[in-house]
Amino acid sequence: MKVRKGIFPVAGLGTRFLPATKAQPKVMLPLVDKPIIHYVVEEAVQSGIEDIIFITGRGQVAIENYFDLSFELEEFLRTKNKRGELAELNGISNLINPCYVRQKQAKGLGHAILVARHLVENEPFTVFLGDDVIDSEVPCMRQMLEVFERYHCSVVALQRVAKNQTSSYGIVQPRQIDERVFQVLDMVEKPSPDEAPSDLAIIGRYILTPEIFRELDETTPGKGGEIQLTDAIRRLLRRQAVYGFIFEGTRHDTGDKLGFLKATVEYALRREEIGKEFREYLRSLQLRDQ
Ligand code: UTP
Repeated sequence: MKVRKGIFPVAGLGTRFLPATKAQPKVMLPLVDKPIIHYVVEEAVQSGIEDIIFITGRGQVAIENYFDLSFELEEFLRTKNKRGELAELNGISNLINPCYVRQKQAKGLGHAILVARHLVENEPFTVFLGDDVIDSEVPCMRQMLEVFERYHCSVVALQRVAKNQTSSYGIVQPRQIDERVFQVLDMVEKPSPDEAPSDLAIIGRYILTPEIFRELDETTPGKGGEIQLTDAIRRLLRRQAVYGFIFEGTRHDTGDKLGFLKATVEYALRREEIGKEFREYLRSLQLRDQ
């Protein structure tokens, strides 16, 4: 069955990025001049995901406005003959045909996905977390879909992490199947380095079979009083195989201040119009600090 739908849960409170996230969604923070969510949506589109479902919370209309037409702005650019900017804006509103569902209370990632159940029903679907921006030749989700097409079961994206970082991730107990593919035997949420069953961390891309909804429905609040997706996937493991896949590419954790700054620098250095000057500026800072 072709996977067509993508859920984008963006209703989290973004507490790691306060106060910037007090009055705007975290995924609307820009990497240079494009909001984080734009990069993630591009990955979905390039992976063939056609139907995009945003799970939003209060105060997140900026996301809806961003992917919508902006008549006044477009008219203004037209009268000023600013064709490049106009084409760029048209490109954004033509990128996707989104659908928005409200998560009335931030009760956790698992709960956010459950809110979209009626829009997904009996199809396998994808989940994209806006915190993770992934740079790769083949879009990360495209790579994962190939694994799904081969094994026909849920697939989570994996990345190797340093031992001292396991306590920031869900870590899997793996059984290797192929060079980059592992069966997930179990998973532990944020284990200490001593308790971690491996160095393979789950990051923000998932392909899930619809059976996950039943498990989410029966999952009680876990860590932080939230309905956790990892708890529901652990329940799913009892009935179905779940695979993990080490994707090819670099992941930027833009949900964290330092990760966001690093991604900003990397994306800026790559920009034709500012990259060279920005590099020189960074060098001058380095010289000043010596
Ligand atoms: P995080 O655990 O990163 O939480 O959520 P957060 O609120 O975004 O950020 P911090 O940690 O407080 O700074 C992981 C993903 O799940 C979404 C978030 O928007 C993020 O994409 N989420 C989380 C929801 O959609 N609803 C929730 O109730 C919780």
